[in-house]
Amino acid sequence: MADTILHGEKITRVFFQGKTETKVLDGIDIEIYENDFTVIMGPSGAGKSTLLYSLSGMDPLTAGHVFYKDKEISGLSENRMAKLRAEEFGFVFQQTHLVSSLTLLENVLVAGYVSKKDSAENVRERAANLLRQMDVEAAKDRLPSQVSGGEAQRAAIARAMIGKPGLLFADEPTGALNQANTREVLGLLTDLNREGQSILMVTHDLRAAARGNRVLYLEDGKVCDELALEPYNEMEEKQRERDVSQWLSKLRW
Ligand SMILES: Nc1ncnc2c1ncn2[C@@H]1O[C@H](COP(=O)(O)OP(=O)(O)OP(=O)(O)O)[C@@H](O)[C@H]1O
Ligand SMILES: [Mg+2]
Repeated sequence: MADTILHGEKITRVFFQGKTETKVLDGIDIEIYENDFTVIMGPSGAGKSTLLYSLSGMDPLTAGHVFYKDKEISGLSENRMAKLRAEEFGFVFQQTHLVSSLTLLENVLVAGYVSKKDSAENVRERAANLLRQMDVEAAKDRLPSQVSGGEAQRAAIARAMIGKPGLLFADEPTGALNQANTREVLGLLTDLNREGQSILMVTHDLRAAARGNRVLYLEDGKVCDELALEPYNEMEEKQRERDVSQWLSKLRW
C-alpha cells in the first residue's frame, strides 16, 4: 500500500453571502497517496477548486484538518503556510499566472530562489533543464505575452517543478489549451508522474482524467465515488478514456 502524502479529515467549507450560507465542502475525508496521479472530477460549481485550495492551504477551512506527510498543516500561521507551500507544493492553473514583466526563464528562476531548496547555481541549472524537458527552451528569453498559450503553460509547469515539490496541484491545467497543446501538457504531466512526482489534478476533460491512476468524483459537497486505473500506458489510452467515460455516465455527469 502506498504511503499517504496528503490527508484531509472532515474538510468543510461554507461560504456566507449576506444571510445565505452555502456549504460547498461537507465534511470530506480524503487520502492522497505518494507517487499517484490523482484526478478530481465533478460538475461545475461542485467545489473542486475549493477542495484543491483548501487542501493546499491557499484557502481557509471552515472546519476540518489537513495533514501533509503526517504533519497537520491546517491552522498554521499565514507565514508558515506560505513557507510550506513554497517548499513543498507546486501549482499549475488554467491561467498561467506568469509574471508578465519577466521572461519565461526569469519566472522559473524567481520561483526557484523563493523555494530556497538549492543554491542559486543549482537553481539556474535546474531551470535550464526543466525548460528543456518542457520543450520550451527556444522561448525562454521571451515575455509571457510573446509566446503561445501552450508554451506559457509548459513554462508554468517548469515553474511549479523548480522547487522539487512533494505534491503538484493542478487546477484544469489544460482548460485554456487547444487539442495539440493539451496533449503536450498531459504528456509532460504523465512523464513527471512516471518519474515519481505525486500529482493532484482537477479536470473536466476525460482525456486528462484518463492520465490518472485514480479518479475521484465530487458532488453535493462529498467525494461520492472513485475509479481506480492502472498507471497510464499510451497503448491503452482509448480503452482508459472509455472506462472513464462509462464511469462518468453511470454518475450522470
Ligand atoms: N469566495 C466565494 N464566495 C462565495 N461563493 C463561492 C466563493 N468561491 C466559490 N464559491 C462558490 O462555491 C461553489 C464551488 O466553487 P468552485 O470554484 O470550487 O467549483 P468548481 O467545482 O471548481 O467549478 P468549475 O468546474 O466551474 O471550476 C460555487 O457554487 C461557487 O459559486
Ligand atoms: Mg474550478
